[in-house]
Amino acid sequence: MMKHRIHVCKNRKHMRKKFELPDELKFLTIGRLPQKTTRESLSGKICVITGTTSGVGYEAALRIARAGAKIVMIVRNRQKAEYLCETLRSLSGEEPDYYIADFTDLAQVRNAAEAIRNQYPRIDILINNAGVHMTRRRLTPEGHETAFCVNHLASFLITGILLRTMVKSAPSRIIQVNSEGHRFNGLRIDDLDWAKRGYYRGLQGYGAAKTAQLMTVWELNDLLRGKGVTINAVHPGAVKSNIGHNNGILYNLYSKYLIQPLLKKPAISGEALYYLAASPEMANISGKFFNLTNEEPPAPHAMNRELGKQIFQRSIELTQLEEERLYEL
Ligand SMILES: NC(=O)c1ccc[n+]([C@@H]2O[C@H](COP(=O)([O-])OP(=O)(O)OC[C@H]3O[C@@H](n4cnc5c(N)ncnc54)[C@H](OP(=O)(O)O)[C@@H]3O)[C@@H](O)[C@H]2O)c1
Repeated sequence: MMKHRIHVCKNRKHMRKKFELPDELKFLTIGRLPQKTTRESLSGKICVITGTTSGVGYEAALRIARAGAKIVMIVRNRQKAEYLCETLRSLSGEEPDYYIADFTDLAQVRNAAEAIRNQYPRIDILINNAGVHMTRRRLTPEGHETAFCVNHLASFLITGILLRTMVKSAPSRIIQVNSEGHRFNGLRIDDLDWAKRGYYRGLQGYGAAKTAQLMTVWELNDLLRGKGVTINAVHPGAVKSNIGHNNGILYNLYSKYLIQPLLKKPAISGEALYYLAASPEMANISGKFFNLTNEEPPAPHAMNRELGKQIFQRSIELTQLEEERLYEL
């Protein structure tokens, strides 16, 4: 049941009623609030970030490099990575680095994350950004629903593999690029690959993946308490990017003419991710969901901690993460 709160202000001659949106609908207004900013230097910091070859991740990598950090990317396209490295070099005094992995193949994700762990004894910032929206059910070679694998399982695996390094590097920060799309839900623990439902709905599939990711943020936040590592999730704004472009020509036309004109420039996402990664005000804030730079209540279904614990356990099994990596930090 949604509770509508009505505050009655008695300090006026005439009583006035102030209407406040219930938590479930606050996301409608929070996205329009003024954005917080910082000018904090990230000089000497190492930032691992995924999906930097377009959209949100590209802008975030540029902004964080401009603040002086060394950027270590995980991407699937070597040519785009090489091109981006040139730009990053000119923005930061640091030499960028990249690792190749297709996130539909968890073995590749594991190899890239382990190579980074072996190469970098210190990581100050981890941003799991790579994501995809599917309009059709497609299974990865390992049999995972693609949106669930790319958005959730891959980011969970990378986080798990790099977690000890993040603890050793404390104070450090993990940012999971999530979405207001988590509100579409669609998560069923007995049907993570959408085999039993007999249908697939893209927005719900996306919502399932983002809900699972959010649920694991709350669990990881509990494990990291007192360890000097923060973990937060963010909706990076509704911005122009390549998301959904994998869904064919009809979707692309629909996106180009009906959706893209309503969207903002992805530079606002880059600025928000830089704020969350660098701002001193964020140093001790953890286990929260942000709409750009403003904290926001997530959908109630994503706060189901009992289901979240099951999703967390299932994610460990599906990614074959060694449990001690998480529980013996
Ligand atoms: N744009 C929005 O309005 C919006 C809103 C809410 C949340 N988000 C979230 O923001 C994040 C970034 O999305 P975006 O909008 O910037 O989309 P985008 O422009 O399509 O960028 C997605 C990034 O993820 C990479 N990627 C996709 N599939 C991959 C795979 N199988 N393996 C490895 N990398 C892969 C892409 O690489 P390639 O360049 O090789 O394709 C690209 O670098 C996603 O998590 C998305 O859910 C976006």
